[in-house]
Amino acid sequence: MIEAANRLQTVEEYYFSKKLREVSLLIASGKPIINLGIGSPDLQPPQRVVEAIKEGLLDPSAHKYQSYQGLPELREAITGFYKTHFSVSLSSSTEVLPLMGSKEGIMHISMAYLNEGDAVLIPNPGYPTYQSVTKLVGATPVFYELDEANNWLPDFNALEQLDLSKVKLMWVNYPHMPTGAKSNTHLFEKLVAFGKRHNILIVNDNPYSFILNDDPKSILSVAGAKDVCLELNSLSKTFNMAGWRVGMVVGDSKHINNILKVKSNMDSGMFYGIQKGAIEALKCSEMWFVTLNSVYARRRDLVWQLADALNCTYDKNAMGLFVWAKLPGDLKAEAYIDSVLKNNHIFITPGTIFGSKGEGYIRFSLCASNEVLEEAIKRIK
Ligand SMILES: Cc1ncc(COP(=O)(O)O)c(C=O)c1O
Repeated sequence: MIEAANRLQTVEEYYFSKKLREVSLLIASGKPIINLGIGSPDLQPPQRVVEAIKEGLLDPSAHKYQSYQGLPELREAITGFYKTHFSVSLSSSTEVLPLMGSKEGIMHISMAYLNEGDAVLIPNPGYPTYQSVTKLVGATPVFYELDEANNWLPDFNALEQLDLSKVKLMWVNYPHMPTGAKSNTHLFEKLVAFGKRHNILIVNDNPYSFILNDDPKSILSVAGAKDVCLELNSLSKTFNMAGWRVGMVVGDSKHINNILKVKSNMDSGMFYGIQKGAIEALKCSEMWFVTLNSVYARRRDLVWQLADALNCTYDKNAMGLFVWAKLPGDLKAEAYIDSVLKNNHIFITPGTIFGSKGEGYIRFSLCASNEVLEEAIKRIK
């Protein structure tokens, strides 16, 4: 018997990987399942992105190994994007590293900074990968609780009372998934000060800035942030390119170099055509964002109607690719979504997969067409 490594005992198969198998079986057995679970954009990327990858395929250098740091034009497009949208200045040669998605960056950063026994601050509720990667590298998750009463923002008094002596890294994710809580400059200033005070690397995971948000922000816009902060960003949601696997980490060159040490030992560069497409995406004008958000705004209206039909409550000021809704009474999230799946053939994500603070909440994805959402409403009504 060849045993798997001990580290595998610290994690479970990803919830969606398991649950979507169950959903697929239901579909295969003829059930008309509506999937409002996962945030995989169903809309198309900008047309010029598709043209760029097609042209890229014909370039004689397309099939070679690519630079570990990405094409210089891609790094310049990333710095241009940060300047245009966040007013953040970055050096394209030293402060930017393209990644194959921001999920991958969570592993790279953890491998670059965490030793066994280090502690990591992780939001509850929050993206499950922060916790699983922390465990995979032998570090210890320390959860900081987010609460609806505090608009899902960190409670700094509670943070200060934690034993921070072993904490090396803190994951933050504003705009926040799953709750849709917004980022704000004051919050980012407090996080930077917290990181400096305790010598903690603060990483803002920022893939939802451009979805239903009229004021995108970067933590790096705070003065002095580069000393203790990194930011992850992604083309997955902003440009409907989740399957392309393009993201980035930006920050001070000393951090970027540490991450590059890990990354250059793990992959051998991003496919040329994908980089060419990503460059075009990053150069999109304001029109792209306006058009994209008009589609999501209509869908969100419909999801609100669906949530109303289910007697849930939600925050109309929240943003991002999901609607985070509170179940009526003290209903339990997993039992509830199982019953909606069984009785109405609609799959919704239970809040508990994001941590114990997600109990009593469910998350609807906006990655479904108006027609599908109208059908879902009909089924509930
Ligand atoms: C909070 C958060 N971070 C990171 C990711 C990963 O995105 P990417 O496609 O860039 O790997 C997701 C994807 O759902 C997410 O919700």
